[in-house]
Amino acid sequence: MLLKVACCALALVCVSADIYLHNPRGSNNRLNEKSANRKNANRGFDSQNNNRGGYNVGDKTSQAFATEDDQYQMKYFQSGDDPEASPSNLVVEWTNQHGCGGSEDDDPHKVNCNLVLQYMCQPADVEQGELHRIRDGLTTNTQGYTRLTSLTEDRATFEARRAGQVKEDRFLQEPFEWYDKCFVRERNKGLFTADQDLRRNNGLRVSSAIYTRQNRNGQRRGYECPEERDYYPYWHPTPWKDIVVLAENASLCDTHYRSKSFNTHKYGECVEGGRHFSKYNNPDACTNAGHQWVEFSNYLEISTEDNRADCEAAGRVWAVPYDAVTGTTEQKCLVPLPEVDCMEAPWSRVNHNGNGKDGVPLNYTWVLPYFPSGKDQKCVFRIRYNITTDDYDPYNTDSTENGAANSPVTNNPNVDIGADLSPLRLNINTAQFGRVFQDRSHAFILRSRPAEIQGTLHNLNVRGKRGNIVQTYPAVEYDFIPTELHMTENDLVHVQWTDFPGSNTHNNGAPGGDGQTGDAGQGKAGTDRHNFVELLDRNHNFPKPFEQSTFWQNAEVKWIYYGSTASTAKGLALNMATSGYYECDTDDCSGVVGNKDELNAQLDNAPASYEGVVLRLNQGTYHYMSSRNNAFTNRSQKGTVHVHQG
Ligand SMILES: *[C@@H]1O[C@H](CO)[C@@H](O)[C@H](O)[C@H]1NC(C)=O
Ligand SMILES: *[C@@H]1O[C@H](CO)[C@@H](O)[C@H](O)[C@H]1NC(C)=O
Ligand SMILES: *[C@@H]1O[C@H](CO)[C@@H](O)[C@H](O)[C@H]1NC(C)=O
Ligand SMILES: *[C@@H]1O[C@H](CO)[C@@H](O)[C@H](O)[C@H]1NC(C)=O
Repeated sequence: MLLKVACCALALVCVSADIYLHNPRGSNNRLNEKSANRKNANRGFDSQNNNRGGYNVGDKTSQAFATEDDQYQMKYFQSGDDPEASPSNLVVEWTNQHGCGGSEDDDPHKVNCNLVLQYMCQPADVEQGELHRIRDGLTTNTQGYTRLTSLTEDRATFEARRAGQVKEDRFLQEPFEWYDKCFVRERNKGLFTADQDLRRNNGLRVSSAIYTRQNRNGQRRGYECPEERDYYPYWHPTPWKDIVVLAENASLCDTHYRSKSFNTHKYGECVEGGRHFSKYNNPDACTNAGHQWVEFSNYLEISTEDNRADCEAAGRVWAVPYDAVTGTTEQKCLVPLPEVDCMEAPWSRVNHNGNGKDGVPLNYTWVLPYFPSGKDQKCVFRIRYNITTDDYDPYNTDSTENGAANSPVTNNPNVDIGADLSPLRLNINTAQFGRVFQDRSHAFILRSRPAEIQGTLHNLNVRGKRGNIVQTYPAVEYDFIPTELHMTENDLVHVQWTDFPGSNTHNNGAPGGDGQTGDAGQGKAGTDRHNFVELLDRNHNFPKPFEQSTFWQNAEVKWIYYGSTASTAKGLALNMATSGYYECDTDDCSGVVGNKDELNAQLDNAPASYEGVVLRLNQGTYHYMSSRNNAFTNRSQKGTVHVHQG
């Protein structure tokens, strides 16, 4: 028996799976690795994905980053003040390996499945040294943690324990305090844990929320809380805001998800004086022990009104915001979150890790939020993929069926097939029978709109990484996203890219894990670049000469990144064709082209990221490609913008 458990623990490390985020690019815990394998699967969160998955953080220039300032964070504009009337649309795209979607009636699947899409933001000006500062880090090491040893620890002891653990140069999304409270809070003892023997914190005599059926040993990844990770909707407040649940079936949206999302449903935590942690996980135990059970609200941001009347008059909500760091219970004026979106998950094939129906990539268009404060936000995006089976009822099986004797499922059972003494062995790992996978983006900026950007805005970006099909897998080859963009002549498009690895550092070398190493492609090995040149149509691989181009002539520049003054069609064409290497044409700003070193024909010395331009376009159909990466028979990096009548 012991032997079996040991094998399972091993299998957990070696499995190849299972959700990969392609836009915005998912890190899968990578940072700037040269190798095809990521270095540290425990860096920030528990993905359960294959070591080869993920994209490095972007570089700003043609040099590998040395400081945070040299990293490129995608900068999407927020929606306008009425997101329905003036949305900023970001197409989220992913692949999931084990299938999903499909109703029992017309399209039965082999798994029950749901996907949960969330984000977390903070004002972009949170400075170095502040306790909760979202960052991608400069090393692949995991943040430190020293275990709490007393349930009555005072503030000074806590601060001494935390000191030196949270490092400025390491990945941080959830704060230290979030994991600390998870480490202390008793786990939900009503949950089904099958025959898994969950450990307990020896010193504290608590079996806490860091131990779950999927994580019985309490392995730590960043400051993620394992119980919160494995379950949704979670029954305590969390630092995450919900975007959408792609549910097993649409009726669950009505009966379950909409009413239980933390966006609109308050959740409680036990508050012990000024501590940010408590071992009590329910109101009775909390109040019986003389503490206060507080119901917290989720929110978009905190508004400035300092009393209930003004707050409510402004259409906001006066309530206790959830702040994992301070544990404050003070009421504030909150900008509420919209109800979680919810629908049936898109159908995808099992054992495939590719497109959905009709060859269409699995996607969801996220209407980016609008922050009334007008402050730019630094954010991260998270997607979880949850598969369960019908071998036990995933919704109605609870702790009464825990333990090897009671559990409906056990590890690798032998089943009788009627032939005495010759059973068949089934492959069941109860830590993964019902399993959640995850990916998260690198940090990105949601920037407030300048006055010139009105109405519907579409984000046009690049996905994928350098290499051929077997080298990139389970990431994807380069392409634009969305490859077919439909917009009207009243809409705007923000063209922007960062290169995976954005990087000037990734040669997809050894260790290659389960796949092939190498980075077949054009330009200097280990670098990625993109650009945008117009094509006659997508069957062609030569760009149109500028004189015959229509895109630039039909484009009106609404906004361009700081540093460029391109305003003429030619200046813009040059700027986009060189990934911003030439900021403008000689007509826009005299002498710029002449003052620079010659551009490398494969863009090696051009910036790895292009902050971009926001354009309005006249009606028409425009085809384009990346001249560096598009290589007929090897890889197509082409797209089309269809501009319809307004
Ligand atoms: C996964 O599904 C199970 C069973 O329906 C549910 O209990 C759990 O909360 C879900 N977890 C997530 C992250 O969706
Ligand atoms: C949706 O899923 C739930 C949970 O599996 C199930 O009880 C319910 O019957 C399903 N509804 C439909 C319409 O398929
Ligand atoms: C997203 O999925 C929908 C439905 O499957 C599809 O109609 C649409 O074309 C997809 N969008 C993109 C950008 O792939
Ligand atoms: C495609 O890649 C192969 C090497 O993998 C190379 O020999 C060939 O020249 C490439 N074709 C083009 C058009 O770049």
